[in-house]
Amino acid sequence: MSPLIMMSNILGFMLIIVATLEPCYGLYLGRRHLYIRNDLENHLPLKIHCWSKDNDLGLKTLNFTQETSWSFKDNNIWGTKFECDMEFQLEGQMKRGQVVVYNNKKKIRTRECRKRCKWSVRKYGLYAFDEKDKKWDFEIPW
Ligand SMILES: *[C@@H]1O[C@H](CO)[C@@H](O)[C@H](O)[C@H]1NC(C)=O
Repeated sequence: MSPLIMMSNILGFMLIIVATLEPCYGLYLGRRHLYIRNDLENHLPLKIHCWSKDNDLGLKTLNFTQETSWSFKDNNIWGTKFECDMEFQLEGQMKRGQVVVYNNKKKIRTRECRKRCKWSVRKYGLYAFDEKDKKWDFEIPW
């Protein structure tokens, strides 16, 4: 094999590795912390049940301003995905939503999060905290 072909082979191989290892949240080998906070304007409790492929975090009830959090390391090969079922009263009506709150293989939020991925549950949907500009922004409607 000529050195040039070998070089391009190695380069191609490296690109494949980078493409598979680089999830949407950026490659980060430390523990990630996910936070979900009840900021429902009506001050009512939020029922929340989150899970991943191999973890069930159980059903929790969060009062106004309370949060639930957990930490994990990304599985960069098979992917790490957390979903939550949420339920609350809105103007006398029961509202439910199922939301993917974390997925390292697919971009599910535009605001960056590396170490701390924060969500705020509000009347109109989920707000995400941007670690860079330190602001909450609307991301996922109900
Ligand atoms: C949530 O609020 C209710 C009613 O005020 C209270 O009984 C309950 O202990 C609170 N739960 C938590 C986890 O603080």
